[in-house]
Parts: sequence; C-alpha cells; structure tokens
Amino acid sequence: MRYLPIDPVLFVSNRQRLTVLLKPQSLVVLNANDVLPTNADGTMTFRQNNDLFYLTGVDQEETRLVLFPDHPDPKYRQALFLRETSELIEVWEGHKLTKAEAEATTGIPQHQIYWTAQFEQVFVQMIFEAERVYLNTNEHTRAIAEVQSRDARFIAQFRQQYPLHPLERLAPLMHQLRAIKQPQEVALIQTAVDITEKMLRRLLGFIKPGVWEYEIEAEMMHEFLRHRSRGAAYSPIIASGSNACVLHYIDNSALCQDGDVILLDLGAEYANYNADMTRSVPVNGRFTARQRAVYDAVLRVMKEATQMLRPGNLWDEHHHEVTKVMESELIGLGLLDRHDVAHQNPDAPLYKKYFMHGTSHFLGLDVHDVGNKYRRMESGMVFTVEPGIYIPQEGLGIRLENNVLITETGNTDLMARIPLEAEEIEELMN
Ligand code: GLY
Ligand code: MN
Ligand code: MN
Repeated sequence: MRYLPIDPVLFVSNRQRLTVLLKPQSLVVLNANDVLPTNADGTMTFRQNNDLFYLTGVDQEETRLVLFPDHPDPKYRQALFLRETSELIEVWEGHKLTKAEAEATTGIPQHQIYWTAQFEQVFVQMIFEAERVYLNTNEHTRAIAEVQSRDARFIAQFRQQYPLHPLERLAPLMHQLRAIKQPQEVALIQTAVDITEKMLRRLLGFIKPGVWEYEIEAEMMHEFLRHRSRGAAYSPIIASGSNACVLHYIDNSALCQDGDVILLDLGAEYANYNADMTRSVPVNGRFTARQRAVYDAVLRVMKEATQMLRPGNLWDEHHHEVTKVMESELIGLGLLDRHDVAHQNPDAPLYKKYFMHGTSHFLGLDVHDVGNKYRRMESGMVFTVEPGIYIPQEGLGIRLENNVLITETGNTDLMARIPLEAEEIEELMN
C-alpha cells in the first residue's frame, strides 16, 4: 500500500467495539469487495469493502473475516482468510500478504489466519456452535444494487448450506460504529484534508483564462498522487461558468473563460479515508461585484450552518434551519421575493430553485458515509457542510464545502486552514 502503516490498535479496538453490540453466541462474516471488470480482460482498481477494512485494515481482494467472540474454544473466536499466493501470482500481480504481515496489519494472531482454501474446514468448527449469524448487506439509502457483491453471494450460499441458522443484519451495527470516528480515523481524514489543501493552493496558482477544466484535473491528480493518495475520493467536479449549475458535472472538458467563476468539488483519498471539499473561484483572479455578493451569501450560510453542527442536533432539523438562512440570503440577492416566500407552498419551498441539495452528509471511509440520520449528532461524527447557490440564467454556481468534526462542546473545522474568504482566494490567485 502506498499509505503509511496504520497502527493495528485501531482495528483491534474496532472489532472489540463490534463484539459489544452482538447478541450472545453470534457469528459474523464479512467479505472483501470484488475486483470489478471493465471490458475484455480489464479490471477497475481494487477498492476494499469498507466494513471489512474497518475491522481488519486488510486492503487485499478475496479476504474474509469471521468473528465468534463466544466460541467455547478461544482459537475459533476469530478467523481471517487470505488469498494464498503462488509463483504465478507473484509474477503477474506481485506481492500478497503473508500471515506475518497480516498479523502486523490486523492484530489478529497468526494461528487465527488461514488461506481461503481452508475456509470450509475451519468454518464447520465454528458454525454449529453459533445460535445466530450476522451477515453484511449494503444498507446505504442511495446504494446501487445492480451488482451482486461477494457478501450478497455469500448470503445466498450460506442460506442454502445452513438453512436453520437465523440471520441478523450486520449493517445497522456497522453504521452505528462507523458514524463515530476514532481519533486515529480523524487523523486519517485530516491527512486527506491536508493533501486536499496542498492541491487547492497549487490550483490557485494555475487557474487562469484559457486553461481547460481537464488541465486543472491533471494538476489536481499530480498533487494528490505525490502525497501517497490513491487519487480522488470521488469523481472530481471542475465546472466553470454555467457548468457549475449541473450538480454532478464530471466531464471537465470546457475552456475556462475570463469573467467566469469555476466550481471545484475536489477531495483526496488517503488510506481509504476521504476529504470532500468545494471552492468556487474566479477564473481571472477577481470576483465581479455580483459574483462576490453571491459568494459572500453562500459563505454566510456556510458559517451559520457550521455553527449549528453541534451535539444533540438532528440532521433533518439542521438542514431545515439552514434553508431558512438560505431563504433570507436569496431574498437579499434579489433572487426570491419576500412576499412570495411568505406565501409559498411549504411542500415546494421556493429556495429549492437555487439550492436543491442537502447541507451535510456523514464523511469517512465512504464519501457519503454510513450513519443514521435520525441519530442525534455526537462527538466523533464527521459531517460536510456544503451550501450552494446555482443561478443558470447568470451562468453562475457557487458552492463552498468544508469537513467538520463534532466535539463535546461544538465542532472543529478540519478544513480551517484551507483558504475560504474571498479576499484570501483573490490574493493567492494574484
Ligand atoms: N463531492 C460529493 C459531495 O459533495 O457530496
Ligand atoms: Mn463535495
Ligand atoms: Mn459533500
């Protein structure tokens, strides 16, 4: 892996914290993600299953973890299965984890680490002592379910092979755990944020009229990759002028024009953790008065929204409060009429014409990280805060996005060092 080694204490303690949530006599199975195909014999870059990574730190395909904390024989209280290497694999793909390396990564002792071919033989020593089995599914509310994961295939196979074992959903427990970041995880997110900061500072010296959006993307990748990142945390959005009004614009193919604002929604990945930043900057280094007015309106909303990310608050209520601030800013900009807003249909509020997405989402191993939106905010949660105003008729879209850690007393902005005020952006561009 190109990232620096992670202290296995994180993964040992994550497994312990999961153990506490399990019902008695439970067995848990987690599977790696697949190496996904492209065309012919091509494959996409491997991306580990985040729950498996969270519990092991193993970043290798075909890995499987079995936990059974109440097994009468301590030897079978956990089992890690690894893809066994061969001369052929060493030659074509390179190094795979040895058991000693896997122990150093995971904190699982070598006598509980096996090759995948040994799975059935070890699993039968465990399964018949278990009263219930937790299996993993993707319960993200916006999950794409078209591809059957290894976890999904394992569930089907398990049901056929062991039809009388009751199944439990692992996902709610993983969401509960992963919503609260451990200090080591916050440090990893902060590393991704710091790489993102270096990238933005580089971009502010590069952007000028006549550069292409994809040239900016190339600069971004250069800066990410030279800092041990695997690249972008998500498809980068580099959207100049009216492209910024297309929320998921990822073509990044246009020429940056003098007088336009360019929206940059860019974040680095580091050790599978993510940053998610947006800045909107003037292509020629100076905002017009109108652009500046919209920018400052978004910035005021962002500052108020950040203030309201505090322990005890609810995600939905937070967004609702933010939309009220946004409403008054949109009136101030002359985009909405005060009288119309007072008489609007509450089911179709007028601000949605200019601010049509959410204010915040959980951030961590996933960019839109898992977590329950009905759970009150708690110390250790990490959220984005990302208001925006999009005005297609003016060829202008401005969004600002930072990453915020909830603390006991309020919050810490993990992006506090990244330039945000319009003056600072202009200064750095000139
Ligand atoms: N970059 C994805 C998001 O802001 O949610
Ligand atoms: Mn973003
Ligand atoms: Mn975001």
